[in-house]
Amino acid sequence: MPDCGPIGVFDSGYGGLTILDGIRRRLPMYDYLYLGDNARAPYGTRSFEVVYQFTLQAVRSLFTRGCRLVILGCNTASAKALRTIQQRDLPQIDQTRRVLGVIRPTVEAVGSVSRTGHIGVFGTPGTIRSRSYDMEIAKLYPDFVTVGVECPMWVPLVENREADGPGADYFVRKYVDIMLGADRQIDTVLLGCTHYPLLLPKIRAAVPDHIRIVRQGEIVGESLADYLCRHPEMDARCSRGGSCRYFTTENSDKFAEMASAFLSRPVTASTITL
Ligand code: DGL
Repeated sequence: MPDCGPIGVFDSGYGGLTILDGIRRRLPMYDYLYLGDNARAPYGTRSFEVVYQFTLQAVRSLFTRGCRLVILGCNTASAKALRTIQQRDLPQIDQTRRVLGVIRPTVEAVGSVSRTGHIGVFGTPGTIRSRSYDMEIAKLYPDFVTVGVECPMWVPLVENREADGPGADYFVRKYVDIMLGADRQIDTVLLGCTHYPLLLPKIRAAVPDHIRIVRQGEIVGESLADYLCRHPEMDARCSRGGSCRYFTTENSDKFAEMASAFLSRPVTASTITL
């Protein structure tokens, strides 16, 4: 096996494509391998143990395909599986490989955005109930107040291509009202799920103008650029060819159709089993 390989980006399904897009815009020179576990998505309502097992299988699969560095481009997997994989599994699998998540870089970015220190987080039930955002925000900014709102209907709306439809208006308004009702001082809202940027026009229209909405794609791209700068040994293990291959655990034609809609460009994909 060559001593360098593509950067792996993993998500339960299509949502991580918004993270991949942000990373590739910032770091177009590397090779990438995207894996969506579409056959078993959504992860957002699954138990800790199941999300951990599924994510570990995906990480192992990306390692087998040559990745030295894997980004969990999924908040639910980052919340429920990242720490265990980093602390328990990686030392046994291969000490030179790394797995990174999306929650920490997102939280790092809010410090320079919020003035009131009141942060709203929209996420899947799994992410919100894990309290990962609350804990990370409290670690970095002990004076901040965090309000997490679970949005169980937003991923299904996006997955079913209803993000632009009138049904989405109702469910966007519903969760925004819950958040604003809980804390009127919120001035920064994190879209803590990779699917939610697809609902951004409706979320933007539903929240007051002074509230900043933080999306993850650009932040994760910037954070990864910084990481590779600080870790030249890992940078050397990431191959540079500007390519991107897409893998899914579901039907490849179905994935290609949806992924093309997410990315606004044609995508071809291959089916794999985990
Ligand atoms: N991509 C997942 C996340 O960012 C949401 C989709 C799912 O529930 O599987 O949390």
